[in-house]
Amino acid sequence: MCAVYKSAYHGHLTSLIEISPYKLCSLSKASDFYSCPPYVHIVPCPDVYRGKYRDCNFPEKADLGQMYADEIKSVVDALAKEGKKPACFIAESLQSCGGQIIYPNGYLSKAFQYVHDAGGLCIADEVQVGFGRVGSHMWAFETYGVIPDIVTMGKPMGNGHPVSAVVTTAEVSAAFHSLGTSYFNTFGGNPVSCAIALAVMDVIENEELLKNAQEIGSYLLSKLNDLKSKYSIIGDVRGIGLFIGIDLVVDRTSREPATDKASQIINSLMKKHHIILSRDGPYSNVLKFKPPMCFNKDDAVFLLEKLEEALIESQESISTKTNAL
Ligand SMILES: Cc1ncc(COP(=O)(O)O)c(C=O)c1O
Repeated sequence: MCAVYKSAYHGHLTSLIEISPYKLCSLSKASDFYSCPPYVHIVPCPDVYRGKYRDCNFPEKADLGQMYADEIKSVVDALAKEGKKPACFIAESLQSCGGQIIYPNGYLSKAFQYVHDAGGLCIADEVQVGFGRVGSHMWAFETYGVIPDIVTMGKPMGNGHPVSAVVTTAEVSAAFHSLGTSYFNTFGGNPVSCAIALAVMDVIENEELLKNAQEIGSYLLSKLNDLKSKYSIIGDVRGIGLFIGIDLVVDRTSREPATDKASQIINSLMKKHHIILSRDGPYSNVLKFKPPMCFNKDDAVFLLEKLEEALIESQESISTKTNAL
């Protein structure tokens, strides 16, 4: 058994598509060939803004982290009743595909505890969020004080060059070898890719890119919150370091996602200034900021200026449409 979020994406191999409902759900609509296997269990993404347990529906002191972790415990308990143990729980350390989700306090440590207590492994996917993006730490899982059994990393590792890695414990690695065959692939550990990955880590260290992520990320968050106080289309601003999301809404009370406006903002209003943004989340309404780690204050000021213009333009296009009706 493997537990994953409904919005999870972990890669394109058939085995990874099985644990990537983000893709699997649309594939299964297109073809009977794809369906969620019985050994994969989907748990709610711990999104306190628009997930199963929302901050607006509970008193301020409610322990939403515990509520979401209990969802994992339910899966583990149900398996135990069938005499089964979980194999693993895999999650991004911050959920980028789910719409730039920062987990509620205590969630990840409790989730890991339930899985570990039942004999399962915890896998942290750091493919999007690793290598210092959160600013305070090199790895996003460190911000929650947890220690995964396996960490997967890729994308930023080669700064464009295709290189990835898996880090695990000696025990897991030894168990792999005990299967009677050793791991081999042609390009694994090749010196060119390793030299590039090492150079990337040197640049992260020498150019103090964690500090940059922390400083520019805090600046962006504070300015985006200022925009939130001016424009009602912004329902939520959340993030850490250079990993930031803006949840756009049609209405702040209902939190109805403003999917069309998110599309207009990134595909037209920002693109015309050569600013490439993406959007994510189950409703594709969350503007996703995950800029290169060298993103500086001037870049941030330019981005904020053009974003404010885009917010105004998107509002104007709505009032023009309304007037025309
Ligand atoms: C969170 C996450 N995990 C895993 C992967 C898979 O990485 P790759 O495309 O290098 O196989 C991706 C790729 O987009 C990703 O975003």
